[in-house]
Amino acid sequence: MSKKYRVAVVGATGAVGQEMREILASRSFPVSELVPLASSRSAGMELEFGTTCVECKELAEDSFVGIDIALFSAGASISEVYAPIARDAGCVVIDNSSAWRMDPDVPLVVPEVNPDAAALHRGIIANPNCSTIQMVVALKPLHDEATITRVVVSTYQAVSGTGTEAISELIRESDELLEGVLPQIEVYPYQIAFNCLPHIDSFLEDGSTKEEQKMVDETKKIMGDDSIAVTATCVRVPVENGHSEAVNVEFARGITPERARELLERMPGVLVTDDPASSLYPMPIVASGTDPVYVGRIRRDPTVPHGLNMWVVADNLRKGAALNAVQIAELLIERDLVRVPH
Ligand code: A2P
Repeated sequence: MSKKYRVAVVGATGAVGQEMREILASRSFPVSELVPLASSRSAGMELEFGTTCVECKELAEDSFVGIDIALFSAGASISEVYAPIARDAGCVVIDNSSAWRMDPDVPLVVPEVNPDAAALHRGIIANPNCSTIQMVVALKPLHDEATITRVVVSTYQAVSGTGTEAISELIRESDELLEGVLPQIEVYPYQIAFNCLPHIDSFLEDGSTKEEQKMVDETKKIMGDDSIAVTATCVRVPVENGHSEAVNVEFARGITPERARELLERMPGVLVTDDPASSLYPMPIVASGTDPVYVGRIRRDPTVPHGLNMWVVADNLRKGAALNAVQIAELLIERDLVRVPH
């Protein structure tokens, strides 16, 4: 019988944690025991795992004894403290937060793009930012073909990326506004219903946001190429789930839209949806609840010698977070890397 693993999900009650449980079960991940962990508020709750229910435990320092793999999705402050504790208990951590992504000792992995980086792990592997994951999956085959020199990306990010409270807020504010009531604002600095906020994560000194900087830094690290210039504008939009991105790419060599489409059609994890004449293009309402990175609106950018524009959409909770984390765990199993090196 093939080996099974004891798997902990930290933040198991959250938007990403729920998806992690669902994806582990639906992909028949070899789990011998699932340990859902969250705050004291959720301890004792029965959480679904496949056809069964498992009791949620409060996250504590001894939570990781005997655990093989821990998927973290409770935010950076929790990961900063508990990921090293889990690793020191002999558990391989796959962390969805920003806490460890730029640490030179921590691989930042998208299995379709840089699977070999996983072999360098020393107990912690970082799952990239949701917006970065879907973009690099689309960029990778194009970079291999024609060498990307510059990327200009604008994102249209769903509220689910903020967490369960933000999903409730969008729905509640929408109801309030439709009823003619002034909405109560709790999660974002302004109402998100019927609005767009060019503000994701905190602002940096240069006027950009941390979210935008993550797209710049993480893209270079995952693609293993510091020379790719990336500039991003990240915007929160009143979409429940599914991030969209307008991506403008410049290349060192020529590449036609037809060739880009052909390469993307062959790329694992990508679904090309690109038939504008039939009004077929990627949309969050289609991507939500599914696994692929959808790419469409692939067209030449005539303002530069070698440029393309495209529109990239994915479920930010799945490929942008939980699915990518589970795929990293599958990769570790496949390559016999579920161990913490001494
Ligand atoms: P809980 O539901 O008990 O608060 P989201 O951002 O989607 O709301 O999810 C956040 C996840 O992180 C939830 O599972 C939440 O658990 C968990 N979490 C938040 N604070 C803590 C904490 N102090 N210890 C453990 N888990 C936490």
